Amino acid sequence: MASRITIVGCGYVGLTTGACFSSLGHEVTCTDVDADRVELLNRGEVPILEAGLDNLLREGINGGRLKFELGSIEAASQSEFVYLCVPTPQGLDGSADLSYIEAAANEIGPHLQPETIVVNKSTVPVGSTRVVEQALGRSDVYVVSNPEFLREGSAVHDFLHPDRIVIGADDQSAAVRVASLYLGVAAPLIVTDPPSAELIKYASNAFLATKVSFVNAVAAVCEAVGADMNDVVLGMGYDKRIGHEFLRPGPGWGGSCFPKDSRALIRIAEDAGYDFDLLEGVVGVNEEQFDRVAAKAIELVGGSIDGKLVAVWGLTFKARTDDLRDSPSLEIVRRLKERGARISAFDPSVSMPLSPRAASVLEGIDIAVDPYAACIDAEVLVVLTEWDEFKWLDFDKVASVLAQPRVVDGRNILDRESLRLRGFDYRGIGRT
Ligand code: NAD
Ligand code: UGA
Repeated sequence: MASRITIVGCGYVGLTTGACFSSLGHEVTCTDVDADRVELLNRGEVPILEAGLDNLLREGINGGRLKFELGSIEAASQSEFVYLCVPTPQGLDGSADLSYIEAAANEIGPHLQPETIVVNKSTVPVGSTRVVEQALGRSDVYVVSNPEFLREGSAVHDFLHPDRIVIGADDQSAAVRVASLYLGVAAPLIVTDPPSAELIKYASNAFLATKVSFVNAVAAVCEAVGADMNDVVLGMGYDKRIGHEFLRPGPGWGGSCFPKDSRALIRIAEDAGYDFDLLEGVVGVNEEQFDRVAAKAIELVGGSIDGKLVAVWGLTFKARTDDLRDSPSLEIVRRLKERGARISAFDPSVSMPLSPRAASVLEGIDIAVDPYAACIDAEVLVVLTEWDEFKWLDFDKVASVLAQPRVVDGRNILDRESLRLRGFDYRGIGRT
């Protein structure tokens, strides 16, 4: 049965949730406080890079099941479900900042119909369901936790084909109503209490971050003992209890969620009286990885990078997204710049003129029109995002434009042997 849904927040999660629910037949209104974003969406333009999202949005708009509005009061007052998909950034003490959630709930609270279900899809600490209940100030509506596990770059696919759907509710009938929205999505359904649902989300992200930090630590051991990390990972991954996923060594993990969510879980545990030393270590290994990759570039150019030009391929926190938030690439660039390097970078999702968001984090980096242009006269090439297009370039041409054929392959995506045949001095992650 089709339901009326308001989505509060038109970002990666809100837009994907809205577009996917409309594709499942629901009547969806996506709302935001950013007037430019709403205007863009109403013109049929998609403000983020996300595979398949443009088609779904177009289908929803043309089918009359999807619209966009500035401000959420009107839509929320006519909806059976209101999904909160607003940011929960890291606060000053590491905990999640709930001010966006509280502001949104304060705003819509007085206008909701009785029996409306307000759903937290933002990633929120244990206890936030109660915070939303208080901010709404209503005893005749329900608050349910329904965390989201989509990955950027495959968000639409992940929403429609999730590994599981998690619903945390005190009221079973509210849980059933939320579950009914997903009719047509085949996935295991876990119905639990709100704190457990909230913790499932944090524990999942923290576990994945732990896996990546673990392989990056093993990669450091590989370098020290002369083993090849690519083979080590292959040998580990065939063990079904370990699996191949999230075993790719790299420049460290980043993005809009792993860094803030790991810190938030450490804080949640600390507030509850448990020192999550393991997770502190996971975060520490990640910081070290940024240093280790920067050090590889410095070592390749002879020990000092002061005044030298460095070519960087890849600025986003991973491939197939335009998201630059907490990107390991930018952490490594910052370390190189602090040691006097000049940076010329190329990323398939970044072009001039820069959006205001991109301009604020890419200050002091020259953006090249293509990967070859980024390499002209550079002393070393550093590959930091695993875009497929980097694998198949003309590396004779790359060698000819670089001042010296040197490469740090921060994602182990290049063909090491072929590069060495072309005269490159090559350094990978966990393989010499
Ligand atoms: P985002 O920054 O891309 O988008 C958030 C949107 O909310 C922005 O467009 C902002 O203008 C809008 N907004 C802020 N306050 C508002 C209000 N009061 N009313 C209406 N709109 C408002 O954020 P995101 O990446 O979509 O993340 C949202 C939440 O989902 C976070 O808690 C995040 O941790 C979680 N999450 C994100 C991902 C991901 O891959 N990005 C995946 C799972 C969960
Ligand atoms: C991650 C989770 O995978 C999602 O399930 C979750 O919903 C989301 O966070 C969230 O809560 O926001 P995402 O941030 O899109 O999704 O990115 P991932 O694909 O998980 O990658 C995170 C980071 O780890 C990236 O920097 C990536 O390059 C790195 N990574 C990942 C590796 O270095 N190696 C790997 O093997 C996998």
